[in-house]
Amino acid sequence: MDSTVQLQWITRQHPFYPAELALRYIVLRAPLKMPRGSEVYAFEEETWHCVAHINNEVVGCVLLHPQNTNKSGKLLQMAVHPDHQGRGIGAQLVRGLEAHALNNNITSIVMNAREVAFPFYEKLGYVFASDFFEEVGIPHRTMTKQLRHDP
Ligand SMILES: CC(C)(COP(=O)(O)OP(=O)(O)OC[C@H]1O[C@@H](n2cnc3c(N)ncnc32)[C@H](O)[C@@H]1OP(=O)(O)O)[C@@H](O)C(=O)NCCC(=O)NCCS
Repeated sequence: MDSTVQLQWITRQHPFYPAELALRYIVLRAPLKMPRGSEVYAFEEETWHCVAHINNEVVGCVLLHPQNTNKSGKLLQMAVHPDHQGRGIGAQLVRGLEAHALNNNITSIVMNAREVAFPFYEKLGYVFASDFFEEVGIPHRTMTKQLRHDP
């Protein structure tokens, strides 16, 4: 793991937010030939944003969108800059998201995972909860993780 990486939860007003959006576009949308702006959700404001930065350079991010029902949160926009992949930053972001979820009384995580990322999420304890379906033009499956069983 890169010891200089710091995680920070930010709002849309934070100076890191434009860099977070740029990273989301570069990593998750440009390779699919999607237009700039396609990385922005209608529900940005109701979503929690975590960035990983090294000396104030944003190198990774992940979002958590509370689902309002059954104490579940949706993981979205998991991205690590290609120059920094394979150093544990993605895993650090997911663990940070899980801790943040539990602190906010969210006890399970759900996501629509891209096929290329299945092994990454499986290593972090996520299990499949659907068959394949298409989203943004590529194969996905829903994956989930129970963080804590409610009494
Ligand atoms: C998927 C992604 C977030 C992983 O982040 P990362 O920082 O590179 O991953 P880490 O270094 O934290 O990897 C954690 C573990 O998962 C493994 N892993 C990561 N990506 C993997 C992959 N694509 N295939 C197989 N194993 C993978 C690593 O080898 C590591 O294993 P280890 O604990 O045994 O050493 C990153 O590669 C990325 O942004 N990819 C492009 C965007 C994307 O696909 N996002 C997911 C959308 S659902």
